Amino acid sequence: MPDPILRSARWVAAGYMAQVLRPGDLAVDATMGNGHDTERLAELVGPKGRVIAFDIQAQAVESTRARLEAAGLLNRVTLVQDSHANMAAHVDQPPRLIAFNLGFLPGGDKQVTTLLDSTLAAVRAAMELLQPGGMLLVCSYPGHAEGQRELDALRDLFAAVPPQAFNILEHRFLNAGPGAPVCFAAEKQMIF
Ligand SMILES: C[S@@+](CC[C@H](N)C(=O)[O-])C[C@H]1O[C@@H](n2cnc3c(N)ncnc32)[C@H](O)[C@@H]1O
Repeated sequence: MPDPILRSARWVAAGYMAQVLRPGDLAVDATMGNGHDTERLAELVGPKGRVIAFDIQAQAVESTRARLEAAGLLNRVTLVQDSHANMAAHVDQPPRLIAFNLGFLPGGDKQVTTLLDSTLAAVRAAMELLQPGGMLLVCSYPGHAEGQRELDALRDLFAAVPPQAFNILEHRFLNAGPGAPVCFAAEKQMIF
């Protein structure tokens, strides 16, 4: 059975990561969770590249540290236990890619989830920090109440961005129900 051509928001995000990142790049994982994306980003930037990853939960930082250690990738990643809303204080050069995977830590406390105000602050900071030609990825999950609020606000924010600044796509299966995940991909224009 061949794989389907149309794939999920997470799969689309992973595809953009692989397309955009080159060895030696700086990438930011704004929501490290259990470190799956951090590990993927660390592989893509190679031994001369760097990843800075954020999470507010010690459990996420420890889980990601263990994953990276086992993969031999820890030396190219900086793990920051702080809100992504403060990312400008930790990121010292313009990243080529910044990825958000919103929601709660799988296997963790479902009450600790990304929240509208800090998510919007962080996404705005990420759009400022990105290098020209860089890519912002935001996976959003409207299957829970805060997730729906985040998605609505992100859509409003992105829809108001001038095309001279960013090209922005929304990937979503239209017929997968109201809780279907969404991936926003925003490419910063070279002249901006
Ligand atoms: C869906 S998980 C991320 C999964 C991760 N990308 C992976 O590959 O395993 C979302 C994460 O965002 C974290 N989070 C919530 N609020 C945050 C904030 N203000 N700043 C940074 N991380 C936050 C949660 O603790 C949770 O671990």
